[in-house]
Amino acid sequence: MSSQAETGSLVSSRLPARELGRAGAGAPPHGYTRTAVALHWIVAIAVLGMIGLGLWMIDLPKDAGPFRAEMYNLHKSIGMTLGLIIFARVAWRFAHPAPPLPGTMPRWQVLASHFTHYALYACIVIQPVTGFLGSLCSPYPVKYFGYTLAFGSWDFPAAKEFLSIVHLANASVLSILILVHIGAVLHHLLVARDGVFQRMWIAARD
Ligand code: HEM
Repeated sequence: MSSQAETGSLVSSRLPARELGRAGAGAPPHGYTRTAVALHWIVAIAVLGMIGLGLWMIDLPKDAGPFRAEMYNLHKSIGMTLGLIIFARVAWRFAHPAPPLPGTMPRWQVLASHFTHYALYACIVIQPVTGFLGSLCSPYPVKYFGYTLAFGSWDFPAAKEFLSIVHLANASVLSILILVHIGAVLHHLLVARDGVFQRMWIAARD
C-alpha cells in the first residue's frame, strides 16, 4: 500500500487511525499524481459522454434503419473499452490511497465525501459489467468496433431484462452521484477555497 511519500502527506502519519484521511488545519491539500489526475478526467469525461450517448440512443426510432444498431454498437464498443480503463483505475486506486483531506473540513463532510467516492466507484464498475453481460444475454452477438466477439449470443431473455433494468437504474444513481460530486467540488472551489479542487486539476507530483 502507500507510503508517506506516495500520499504526499507529512501530517497523516501523525494522526490517530480514526482521523486518517484528514490532514491538520493549514496542511497543503495537494498530492495527486499525474496518473491519478489523468485517470480521473479520462473516466469522468468518458462516463458523461456514455450517459449522454445511452440516453440519446434508446430514444432513436426503431425504424431508423442501421443507424440505430450502429449507435448501439458504438455505445457497446466504447463502453467495453471504458470498462477496461475503469478496472485499471480502480486497481490503481487500491494501490494508491488518496492524499488526506484538509483538516478544516467538518467530520460530516469527510464521511459524505468517502461515501460518495466509494458509491461512484461501485457505480462505474456496475455500469459496464451490466451493459456487457446484458448484451451477451441478448439475441445479438456483441461486436467490438465491427469485430464480432467470440462469446457468441447467449439469448437469455430473463437475464437480459434484469441486467437492462440494473443498467438503467444504475445510470440514474450514477447521474445523481455525479451531481452531488460536482456540487461538492463547487463548494470546495467557491466557498471553502481549500485547494481540494486544484489538487485534482493540476498534478502535484509524478
Ligand atoms: C461506463 C460505461 C457505460 C455507461 C456510463 C453507460 C450508460 C448507459 C445509459 C445512460 C444508458 C441509457 C439508460 C436509460 O435508459 O436511462 C445505456 C443503455 C444501454 N447500454 Fe450502456 N453504459 C455503459 C457501458 C455499456 C456497455 C459496456 C454495454 C455493452 C457492451 C452497454 C450496453 C447498453 C445497452 C444495450 C443499452 C440499451 C438499454 C438496454 O438494453 O440495456 N453499456 N447505457
